[in-house]
Amino acid sequence: MTKLIQNVKVLRNKKLNSSYFVLELLAPEKLPKILPGQFVQVLIDNSKNTFLRRPFSVHNIDYNKNTFKLLIQKVGNGTKVLSYLEKGNLINIIYPLGNNFSMPFDNNVLLVGGGCGIAPLLFLAKYLFENNIIPTILIGGKGRKDIVELEEYGKYGHVFVITEDGTIGVKGLITHHPLLSDINKNKDKSKANFSKIYTCGPELMMREIARISKENNIDCEASLENMMACGIGACLCCVVKTIRGNERVCTEGPIFNTKDLVQWDK
Ligand code: FES
Repeated sequence: MTKLIQNVKVLRNKKLNSSYFVLELLAPEKLPKILPGQFVQVLIDNSKNTFLRRPFSVHNIDYNKNTFKLLIQKVGNGTKVLSYLEKGNLINIIYPLGNNFSMPFDNNVLLVGGGCGIAPLLFLAKYLFENNIIPTILIGGKGRKDIVELEEYGKYGHVFVITEDGTIGVKGLITHHPLLSDINKNKDKSKANFSKIYTCGPELMMREIARISKENNIDCEASLENMMACGIGACLCCVVKTIRGNERVCTEGPIFNTKDLVQWDK
C-alpha cells in the first residue's frame, strides 16, 4: 500500500479532559484507504526533545468529509506539543502505516481497550458495525478520567466499563470484568461467549487477555504499542519475537494474532 507524506490541517482539537484530546484532521487530497488498526506517524516539531515522529492509531475516519481523528493522551513532551494545536494549524504525517485487524468469523466479537488503547477500537467497532456485526466493547482504565467517548462507542456496540477505583462502571481490573471472568467460568462448556477478541492497551493487560483467549480457545488479536522511531521498517527498534522470528511492529504489525507472539499467552 502506498504511503503518503502530507501536511494535514487541524479542523478541531477537542479537549476531552485534562489528559485526553481528539485531533480532527483534514487531508489535502482524497484520503487513501485506511483500515482499522493502521496508524500514522506525526511529526511533532524539530526541537531536540521531540524530533522523532510519534505513532498514533487512526481513531475514526470520515471519507465523506475527507477527515480522520486521532485520540491522544498527554504523556510526554510530544503529546503535550500536540495538545496545543489549534484549528487551522498544519501537521506533517506519514500514513497509512502497518497492517490491520482481520475480520471475525462470526458476530461473537469482544473488543477490550485499556486507557488510550481504546483509540483504534472505535474505528474497528464502526467498521464491524458497517459490516453488520455488533461488537461487545469493554473499556477500562484507572479511573473516570481514562474513560472517554463512551457515546461514540455506544453508537456501534454494547459498551461495558470498568475502572480500578470504581469511579465509573464496575470496580476492578479490566481482566477481572465478568465478561472475561465468565469466559473463564465457561471454559468447560462447548460454546464460549466469544469467538474473537480484539485488544489494545497496556502490554500486561493484553498478555492476560491472550492467556484467557488461549485457555478458552478464542482467537485473539492485539494491537502492539512498542516504541517506534522510523515507523516504516528501517530502524528495527520496534521488533517483537514471533513464531516466525523477529518481526517489526511498525511494518508486520501493529496487529498480531496473540498465538503468534512468543511467550504471550503463557
Ligand atoms: Fe523503525 Fe519499526 S519503528 S523499524
